[in-house]
Amino acid sequence: MKVFAHRGASGHAPENTLLAIEMAINMQVDAIEIDVHKVEQELVVIHNRHLHHTTNGQGRIAEKQFYEIRTLDAGGGQQIPTLWEVLALVNGQCGLNIELKTENIVESVFRQLQKAVSELNFQREQFLISSFNHHLLNEFKLKHPDWQIGALTASLPLEYAMFAEKLSAYSVHIDVDFVNQTFVDDAHARGLKVFVYTVDDEDDIEDLLHMGVDGIFSNFPTRSMIRIAHL
Ligand code: G3P
Ligand code: CA
Repeated sequence: MKVFAHRGASGHAPENTLLAIEMAINMQVDAIEIDVHKVEQELVVIHNRHLHHTTNGQGRIAEKQFYEIRTLDAGGGQQIPTLWEVLALVNGQCGLNIELKTENIVESVFRQLQKAVSELNFQREQFLISSFNHHLLNEFKLKHPDWQIGALTASLPLEYAMFAEKLSAYSVHIDVDFVNQTFVDDAHARGLKVFVYTVDDEDDIEDLLHMGVDGIFSNFPTRSMIRIAHL
């Protein structure tokens, strides 16, 4: 079972910062999950639309200018990083799951990832593009069919993982509160990997391993990896 560092090693350092990402790389995780928004023409790594959740700023990120958000403290003196800064830091040392948090970023994200494959040490297969917005995933997959996408769901859909299969997704990402054996078996029968978020409870890790889940998103990756190794 793979471990994705959720927003970097966010249990140990401010989420979605270069520090949290560097810690996750040093923990030798399988992959790192990050959230991406856009400010002016820049792609930036932050979870929420509103700055006050994780920075000392106020207001909506989409209404700011890039130079303004770079003056903010995202925790521990860390800046909000750009997507390119994260790509340069990770540099193919592990996988990278990029969650699209907003519209109108499909092509700019793609261009950055393509540049990372040609200029950095990434292979295309190390990238997994995910979103709760399946229209964005559909757009990405139609334009770039060779790239891997992961369909996020925050609930247990009646038709299980059929939506992800329709998108030709690589994986389906489901909330730990909703995943069950039927969902996992159905997804696997459709050729989909099942990744579960956000999993930090040791008993949950054991249950998910027995369910045959392919990976988990963890805020405490080392602890999760040790737990998995002992099961
Ligand atoms: O990608 C898994 C998980 O990060 C999705 O939920 O709200 O933490 O972005 P959220
Ligand atoms: Ca996320």
